[in-house]
Amino acid sequence: MNVLGIIFSVCIFLLSIRLLRSLLYRTVYLRKIYRNITPLSISWIPFVGNFHQIRKGGVTYYKLVLRLSSEAQQQTKGIFCIWYALLPIVFLSSHNGLEKFINHSKQLSKSANYELLHPWLKTGLLTSNNEKWRNRRRLITPSFHDNQLLKNFMSIFNEQAQVLVERFVRLAKEKTLHQLYPYISACTLDIITEAATGTKAEAQSSDSRNDFVQATLRISEIITKRIRTPWLWPAIIFDNSSYGREQKHFLQILHGFSHKVIEDRIKSFDPQEMHTDDHRKRLVFLDCLIAQMQQEKLTLDDIQEEVDTFMFEGHDTTATAVTFFCYLMGHHPDVQKKVQEELDSIFGDDHERECTMDDIQKMTYLDCAIKESLRLLPPVAMIGREAQEDFYHHGQLIPKGAIVNIVISAIHRDPSVYPNPDEFDPSRFAENSVINEQRSPFAFIPFSAGSRNCIGQRFANLEERVVLSTLLRRFSFRSTQTVDELGLLNLLLLRTENPILMSIEARY
Ligand code: HEM
Repeated sequence: MNVLGIIFSVCIFLLSIRLLRSLLYRTVYLRKIYRNITPLSISWIPFVGNFHQIRKGGVTYYKLVLRLSSEAQQQTKGIFCIWYALLPIVFLSSHNGLEKFINHSKQLSKSANYELLHPWLKTGLLTSNNEKWRNRRRLITPSFHDNQLLKNFMSIFNEQAQVLVERFVRLAKEKTLHQLYPYISACTLDIITEAATGTKAEAQSSDSRNDFVQATLRISEIITKRIRTPWLWPAIIFDNSSYGREQKHFLQILHGFSHKVIEDRIKSFDPQEMHTDDHRKRLVFLDCLIAQMQQEKLTLDDIQEEVDTFMFEGHDTTATAVTFFCYLMGHHPDVQKKVQEELDSIFGDDHERECTMDDIQKMTYLDCAIKESLRLLPPVAMIGREAQEDFYHHGQLIPKGAIVNIVISAIHRDPSVYPNPDEFDPSRFAENSVINEQRSPFAFIPFSAGSRNCIGQRFANLEERVVLSTLLRRFSFRSTQTVDELGLLNLLLLRTENPILMSIEARY
């Protein structure tokens, strides 16, 4: 070894010692801080932490988090900490005291695992932090409350729900079990692509054969795979893996697609159309973003980040919610029957009529059943933040820099709020129910809560009601797998280890 080599090795050695020392120092400091959090019913080993018990991940990990959440709820504070070797992660699993954290203007930053989304979404609304996020949220919020836009979206929901019905008619003729998720996911992809960009993806009619549809579905799978495989987290390893190369290829297609639709829309954009009721073309989210660009509040790159974010957040979340709802209907024929009776009383014999806002107002039982489904199987089961300053949760210090996971699925199963929490019972959400009236708004948070909640909540609520009411007017579902047999796991969204299989029966 030459002199340079020796110097280099000594430097690396000294650096490693320094790094290890500061890591150990921080660990001892954090162990002291967290020692008052009630100990878990799993063991802690020096340097390993709880890692030996969580390393399996997947279904086992999700079950463990729910079990620990329930123990923490019984101790009333609803807080526990899992040590990933030297790194502690704090979990909040009760509505009790959550408001102070989730609503705090200094605690809105996302945790580091959201960085896995950066190659696709860059720093759009979901993944940005601080001032950038605040400005964006202020600029974009009005489009999600624009009544004219929501009216336009109602026609898109109805059109695409009708295409889904036609596909289900064919499935119902085959008397076998079907995996509905790919069909529902194609429908919600068509909806969000048109609502966000004004372009038709035709995922339902092309049977995923077009490049854009294939790329969207494959990217979601690759991101999911990366989340499940910790050694793929460092960019330097991931980028050089086959998954990294595949992701790069599909991102070129996705970014190319959004770039082109934005450019085309800008060319045909007429600002006058934003201010008249006589719209020759259907206005969509992209038109609102372009209008902001013309006032120099957004750049072309900004618009692209947001369009990509809407496509990601607005596609799989609703597909998951609709699929879980159909599954629960298939498992609870009594509830399904009541939903169908309500729909029959609204639509009568007219099976083809489009669903309107007025119809939705009348769907009170469907509304309860959808809420109960979002409670029991929330598509976003856990969200992560990074504490921007020290804070106290029931007297427990959570220091600046801590990673804090809010376990939505556990908050929704707190027996002090929801007696028999594993039971599917839509009457919990009936307007006159005592539980409904007494429940804290932080005990039901499928769309998160506070100023960083889901901006697409109203859009998603309408979409779910149009699609589900259209489906349940025409079909009945049957499912026999239990939730345990499906095996729930959290991979950004709530997923099942085994595919959900259902039979479909045409009602007419
Ligand atoms: C049933 C469907 C949906 C559910 C359950 C859902 C749930 C959520 C949740 C829990 C968050 C907070 C995420 C976090 O803190 O990490 C969120 C954020 C977000 N959602 Fe949704 N979402 C749904 C549909 C949609 C739709 C249809 C859109 C767009 C059209 C959308 C756009 C967004 C965006 C842009 C954010 C980030 C907001 C911000 O940080 O300011 N979501 N959603």
